Amino acid sequence: MTGVRETTDARDVVDFLLDQHQQIRGLLSDVLDVRGPERQRVFDEVRELLARHETGEEMVLRPLTRKTPDGSPVADARFAEENEAKKVLARLEHLDVDGAEFESTFTGFRLSVVDHAAAEERDEFPLLRRDHDADTLVRARGRLERAEKMAPTHPHPSARSTTANYVAGPFAAMLDRARDAFSGS
Ligand SMILES: [Fe+2]
Ligand SMILES: [Fe+2]
Repeated sequence: MTGVRETTDARDVVDFLLDQHQQIRGLLSDVLDVRGPERQRVFDEVRELLARHETGEEMVLRPLTRKTPDGSPVADARFAEENEAKKVLARLEHLDVDGAEFESTFTGFRLSVVDHAAAEERDEFPLLRRDHDADTLVRARGRLERAEKMAPTHPHPSARSTTANYVAGPFAAMLDRARDAFSGS
C-alpha cells in the first residue's frame, strides 16, 4: 500500500449534495437547449435526479438540520420551497415540451430550483457542518448513497412506450418509489 488515502473516504453528506447540485444546475440549463424527444429525455433525467435528491434531503438531511439549534426555521423554509417545486413540476409534466407554455413555466421552475439549491448551500449546509461531528455527516452520506442506489425511480426497463413521459412516469410516482427505498435503507 502506498498509503494514498481515497479522497472519497472523507466526503460527507454535504459534499455529496453539492455534487448533485452541480449536476442539477447543468441538466436544468440543458433542457431548453434542445427540442423534441431529446428535450423530453433531458427533462426526464432532471426529474429523476430531483426525485432522488429531494427525497434524500427530506429523509436524511432535514432531520439533522432540525437537530441544530437554529435549524427548524431553515428546514421549514427549504421544505416549503421543495413542495412548491413539486407542484410546478406536476404542471410541467402535462405540457408539450416544445410548447411556449412549457418554456415559460420551465424557465421559472429552473430559477426557483437554482435559488433553492443556493439557499441550502448558504443557510442550511453550514449549520450541519457547524453543529454535527464529521462522523455523523460521513455516515449520513453513506446512508444517502446506499438508498439512492436502491431507489427504483425508473420503472422496469420493459415498460416501453412510445411516450417518453410514460416510461419515466410522473414525478409524484418517482418520489413514492424513492421514499420506499429510503425507508428500507
Ligand atoms: Fe432541496
Ligand atoms: Fe438540494
